[in-house]
Amino acid sequence: MSANYHSIFTPANYQQRLENFDDYWVFTQQHGGELLESDKDLTKKKALLADFKANPVQLRTPLKDPDAFYRNYVEMQEDPKSLDKMTLLLTGMYKFARHEWVGIKGAWEFAPSMADANSLEDRISRIHLAEEFCHVRLFDEMLKTCGLDKVEWVPLSPWKEKVYEFFPKLPSIILNSPAFVTELMGVTFYLHLYPLIDEVFAEEPEVCTRLKALLDEITIDEIAHVGQRRNFINPIGMKVSKKLVKPFYTMFFNDIPEIGALFNIPQMIADGQNFDFNQLPEYMLARTWIPSYCQAAN
Ligand SMILES: [Fe+2]
Ligand SMILES: [Fe+2]
Repeated sequence: MSANYHSIFTPANYQQRLENFDDYWVFTQQHGGELLESDKDLTKKKALLADFKANPVQLRTPLKDPDAFYRNYVEMQEDPKSLDKMTLLLTGMYKFARHEWVGIKGAWEFAPSMADANSLEDRISRIHLAEEFCHVRLFDEMLKTCGLDKVEWVPLSPWKEKVYEFFPKLPSIILNSPAFVTELMGVTFYLHLYPLIDEVFAEEPEVCTRLKALLDEITIDEIAHVGQRRNFINPIGMKVSKKLVKPFYTMFFNDIPEIGALFNIPQMIADGQNFDFNQLPEYMLARTWIPSYCQAAN
């Protein structure tokens, strides 16, 4: 198959990036629907989650030891090697999503509301943050689908919360590269999560299909976020961003013991550095957004 897309690190000039913000704005409004500011939600996404909830699926065989999940999901208390793969997958997924939740809480409070947004970039960022809150709800639904209905979203340690509160206050020239690499890390992690869900839930076809359908809603948004956050960055910033992939992925994944136990971190780093959209399935490409300068026809 010929490559239809260029590397996410392909440089783009200012004019191209301006045009792509306009294009993303058109995409994001039809993608998520109307912003429901006080609910940190979007109409289409809210309806989608309600549909999933109205048609729940359950494990054929309930989790062997849900207490093992509840003992280890906020902080790993036991040797990860002593836990079964399903528990590790679920606690690891929660921990990844928890970081996302902490990051967006801080950013939502700091960023201008839609009514106060003065620029197109501010309006895009407001919708982006609302989508991130939708992701936390989707992760919560993934855990509920596995029978875990007592999950709480717990703040990080005080100093880590401070770091996440401080982060959105940095000047955008400093913030743009880390914010982009964080989105890229999300896509890399989710793309590695699909085959693990297939493996771990092989005996649970209904739950396996549902978990992947819920994850699709997150991944398709995150692919669009990768392009959108990349669009903030000039050619020098893109060189910096590529250099940040390895230290960022390493630091973040090392903080979640399940990730080292379940995934190939060097492979995830390589996938981040080489990301170019070509590996993505058609059904995701059809629903997401990719900058024009990453498309081979342009
Ligand atoms: Fe997200
Ligand atoms: Fe995102």
